[in-house]
Amino acid sequence: MGMIELVKVKARQCVKKIVLPEGDEPRTVQAAVKILQEKIAFPILIGDPKAIKNVATEKGVDITGIEIVNPQDSPKAAEYTNALYELRKAKGVTEEQAKQLVQDPMYYGIMMVKLGDADGLVSGAVHTTGDMLRPALQIIKTKPGIKVVSSSFLLDCPNKSLGHNGLLVYSDCVVVPCPNAEELASIAVSAAETARVLCGIEEPKVALLSFSTKGSAKHELVTKVQEATRIAHELSPDLALDGEMQFDAAIIPEIGASKAKGSPVAGHANVLIFPDLQAGNIGYKITQRIGGAEAFAVLQGLAKPCNDLSRGCSVDDIVATVALTAVQAQG
Ligand code: ACO
Repeated sequence: MGMIELVKVKARQCVKKIVLPEGDEPRTVQAAVKILQEKIAFPILIGDPKAIKNVATEKGVDITGIEIVNPQDSPKAAEYTNALYELRKAKGVTEEQAKQLVQDPMYYGIMMVKLGDADGLVSGAVHTTGDMLRPALQIIKTKPGIKVVSSSFLLDCPNKSLGHNGLLVYSDCVVVPCPNAEELASIAVSAAETARVLCGIEEPKVALLSFSTKGSAKHELVTKVQEATRIAHELSPDLALDGEMQFDAAIIPEIGASKAKGSPVAGHANVLIFPDLQAGNIGYKITQRIGGAEAFAVLQGLAKPCNDLSRGCSVDDIVATVALTAVQAQG
C-alpha cells in the first residue's frame, strides 16, 4: 500500500471535519464528493450554495450530504467577528475590519478551525500560499513549545533502500526563508513529529544538513547548523538526531560510516533538515523531478492543521491533502 493509501486508512479511523474555503472551485467540489464517499473526512464547503450546486451539476457530481456554509448569511458570523476582533485588536484590527474579514471565505474558514467548528483546513487551488498562511499564522498560531510554523515534504522515492522504505521527510521547503539556529532546531523537532504522525516512522532519524560533515569545513553557515543541532538535542533529548552533515553522509550508509563514524543517524537518516528555504525548496524539487519521487506537502507547528495546495493540483491531490490534514487533526 502506498503512503497516501495508508494515510487514508488512518483518517477513516476517527473521521474529522475539514473545511475547504474555495468551495465553488470545480476540483474542490469534485474532491469533496470523493472525500465523503471514501469516508476520509466530513468536508465543509464555504461559498454560495447556489454557485456550488451549479458547479456540481456542471461536473455531474452529487453533493448530497456535504455541508455548505455561506459567510454572507451565516448565523456564526457575529461570533467569529467578535473572536477575531479580540484576537487581533492589539494589532490594530477594528471591529468593522473584523466584520469585513469574516466575510472572506479564507478568514471564515480559519475562524471555524480556531473556534473548533472544523478540525482542519485545506486551500490553495486558487489562493497563493501566503493568502492562507498569513491568516493561519495570525489566528491559529503555533503549538505550545514550537517556535515557528514550517513545512515538511513527504517524498515517496522509487528507491526503497533510502530512508524509511523509500520515504524521506524534507523540511523546511515552503515557509521560513532564513531560519536562525533556534528556528532551525524547532523545525527539526516538528519534522520528526510529522514523520511519526503521517509516515508511521516510529523512530525518526533526523539529520541537519550542511555542506560540511562534523567540522570538515569552517564557516558561519556551518556554525549555525551546529548550534541548531545542539538546541534540538536540548528540546528533544530522546530524538535520534545529528548534524551538521552533508546530504550523502546522511543517506548513504557507507559514506555516513566513513564521514560521521558513530553517528546515530548518518547513512540512515529519514528526516532531512535543510539549512534554509532556498536549499529546502530546491532539494525537494530535485528529488521529485530527477529522482522521480512522489511529493506531498504539509504545514507543521500550527496549533491546528491547515494545509496548502499547489494551484495546479488535481482532484486526487486535494483528496490526499485532506487525508493528511485529517490525520494531523487526530494528533
Ligand atoms: N511561524 C510562526 N509565526 C509566523 C511565522 C512563522 N514561520 N512567520 C510569520 N509569523 C507570524 C508573525 O509573527 C506575525 O504574527 P503577528 O501578526 O501576530 O505579530 C504574522 O505571522 C504575520 O507575519 P508577517 O511577517 O507580517 O508575515 P509575512 O507577510 O512575512 O508572511 C509568510 C509570512 C507568508 C510565511 C512569509 O514568510 C513567506 O512568504 N514565506 C515564504 C512562502 C513562499 O513563498 N514559499 C515558497 C513557495 S511554496 C512552494 O514552493 C510549494
